[in-house]
Amino acid sequence: MKIINSIYEMQKQAEALRASKKIIGFVPTMGYLHEGHLSLVRKARELSDIVVVSIFVNPTQFGPNEDLDRYPRDFERDRKLLEQENTDIIFYPEAKDMYPEGFCTYVQVRGMEDFLCGKSRKGHFIGVAMVVIKLFNIVKPHYAVFGLKDYQQFKIIERMVKDLNMDLEVIPYPTVREKDGLALSSRNTYLSEEERKKALIIYESIKTLKEMFKKGIRDPNALKQRAKEMLESEGGVIIDYISICDTETLEELTIIKDKALYAIACFVGKTRLIDNSILEV
Ligand code: PAJ
Repeated sequence: MKIINSIYEMQKQAEALRASKKIIGFVPTMGYLHEGHLSLVRKARELSDIVVVSIFVNPTQFGPNEDLDRYPRDFERDRKLLEQENTDIIFYPEAKDMYPEGFCTYVQVRGMEDFLCGKSRKGHFIGVAMVVIKLFNIVKPHYAVFGLKDYQQFKIIERMVKDLNMDLEVIPYPTVREKDGLALSSRNTYLSEEERKKALIIYESIKTLKEMFKKGIRDPNALKQRAKEMLESEGGVIIDYISICDTETLEELTIIKDKALYAIACFVGKTRLIDNSILEV
């Protein structure tokens, strides 16, 4: 397994691999890897000859009052985990190289970024879109695997790749959960034992809304009201948003035709957690 820090070297490697007809599979991450990330790596392995994983805590996608400084980092641990997964290359750049002085280009995926997390994390998806384009231009993948845990992020990137005629395929991967249902996240490490228990209400609400949907309840307000009651019943859980939205445009729905996305963001203590699930029969 190679560890590449230099953007130039990564690009040269990618060019050489492409020239020798190797299929490159890519998993962009911010590190502090868990089983969710590793499942994406396995998916990339299935699809490709060469698997590249990037580890980069991208400063431009964090707001001024967010957790950039305390975001968990442990390169040595990540390196070992990726070695066990037969990763070929870890791309591990530095912020000063990714964003040299004078950097001023941004790409906006309009519309979709106004909803859900885009509303409460202004500018977040501009930062995500930009770093992902840069990483694609550096790693030159044929496939890039993204988790549906960050459904909005996946949809925005899928749209951007289409709109910009980027020559790669974006592959979705289902949310990986703990046995009790909590979606894996690098941020779970912030949770105290008590908060960890409270956080389970998020998955409970997903199960409840799926059951309601199966029983024929299609009124978005009734579904959201039930979710709100459940989340609020757990003291110390503060709702950022609860949404029943279109699975493609992410627009809030007033009527559900055949399916809808239930998306939640809430603070458990100081930790912001997100989750989602598609409601369908
Ligand atoms: P990060 O939060 O490290 O996530 C990296 C990838 O792992 C994303 O595609 C995310 O959706 C996926 N992932 C996280 N938790 C998951 C889970 N429980 N199940 C399945 N997949 C999961 O997302 C980012 O980093 C960044 O925004 C990035 C795309 C790297 C750009 O900086």
